[in-house]
Amino acid sequence: MPVSCPSHSPVMPSSAETPDPRTALLEGAAQAAISYLAEEDTRPVAPRPEALTALDALRAPLPEEPTSAKDVLHLLDTYGSPATVGKTGGRNFGFVNGGCLPAALAASWLVSTWDQNAAFFVQSPAAITMEEVALEWVRQLLGLPEETAGAVVTGATMANFTALAAARHALLERAGWNADDDGLFGAPPITVVVGAEAHASVAKTLGMLGMGRKRVVRVPVDGQGRMRADALPRLDERTILCLQAGNVNTGAFDPAAEICPIARAAGAWIHVDGAFGLWAAASPAYRWLTEGFEQADSWATDAHKWPNVGYDCGIAMVRDAAALRGAMSIQASYLALGDHREPSDYNPELSRRARGVELWAGLRSLGKKGMAEIVERTSRHAQRFADRLRAAGYEILNDVVVNQVLVSFGSAEKTLRTIARIQKDGTCWCGSTVWQGHTAMRISVSSWATSDDDVERSLAAMLRAAEG
Ligand SMILES: Cc1ncc(COP(=O)(O)O)c(C=O)c1O
Repeated sequence: MPVSCPSHSPVMPSSAETPDPRTALLEGAAQAAISYLAEEDTRPVAPRPEALTALDALRAPLPEEPTSAKDVLHLLDTYGSPATVGKTGGRNFGFVNGGCLPAALAASWLVSTWDQNAAFFVQSPAAITMEEVALEWVRQLLGLPEETAGAVVTGATMANFTALAAARHALLERAGWNADDDGLFGAPPITVVVGAEAHASVAKTLGMLGMGRKRVVRVPVDGQGRMRADALPRLDERTILCLQAGNVNTGAFDPAAEICPIARAAGAWIHVDGAFGLWAAASPAYRWLTEGFEQADSWATDAHKWPNVGYDCGIAMVRDAAALRGAMSIQASYLALGDHREPSDYNPELSRRARGVELWAGLRSLGKKGMAEIVERTSRHAQRFADRLRAAGYEILNDVVVNQVLVSFGSAEKTLRTIARIQKDGTCWCGSTVWQGHTAMRISVSSWATSDDDVERSLAAMLRAAEG
């Protein structure tokens, strides 16, 4: 769609004799970045041992004298680039590593140039407007209620933290206690219920919030890691129930359509950790997996996973905007703010980079169809990995419902040996896990850049490593 833009004068050096020194530097950085991308097909995904050894050259005391920016860039490219783990190509299947869409990458360059403080509208009308628009797009893509408020944070861990802070605020407020003013000493107790396969970040954030990593009721799960609805404990209005949309190992989704009505009727606060899985709602073919999660009170997700907007970008969504503001707002006489929605009232941080711009750019470049396509294409690739490895005689430990595959190459020792060979070979990268007592290799297909050819090359490398 054509967009009419206000006129914008390009930055020009003040005279021909005094060119802006940043111009040559930025051109150098662009050239280094372009060369880096050009080598993604031939560079091993894991850095070569000699590149790691060379990093020692950077372990030097801070020099007394300044270093020119050009030399700094040279050091970065010489020692840094070869010692990175390849994420720009399509063969990194570690953790849940999304890639970075071209539009998000370009936006990130511009955002760094703008260097905006995205805490307040008055500090960056552009960043705050794009963040607001992007949050609304995310709400719609995930099928969440209209009244939902959001925050763009660093990742799903901080999104879990932000949403659970709102939950803590709301439940204790209902019990006549202001947790944010008066703390938790002497507060009425809250029960936190999690699935036995909840992501470790939920426990971490509960610890950070003073609610205790271990002070939780664990609900048994089935063989895919899904919370068992028939094993739910008694829930009430002082309960936070944490559900999961997308298990980090199996990709499985808790049965929200079954559990949420029970939890709502009991007055519990339902939180959903949907770091990658919630994005299945963006695909007509996979939406059924997320059915029921829209009944929750808060959601955490990551845009640096399936949406591929680059690190770092997490999103917290909370149905009750007042609860989110209650937990996150900040006042000080020097923060003379206007009438706009101020991110500082919704986010844990005050000063923050304008990561909402990359989110906006990535989603704008994808559109609804592009987002659905990433979910569908990566899940198709995952299915291909599972089918081919199974056909070669290896055991697939999970039902491949989305983009996650768990494969055993035999004994724990053989599986770990195979993973080590795969990582050393460098064609692709996969990590290990232990799933319900079984050592496995995790394949997470999360990058927009993964092509059919990447899958074939990676499969060949995996089979070579397993047979070698
Ligand atoms: C289900 C789930 N929750 C939380 C996280 C943590 O996300 P982040 O690393 O962005 O904090 C992950 C990461 O893979 C995840 O899969």
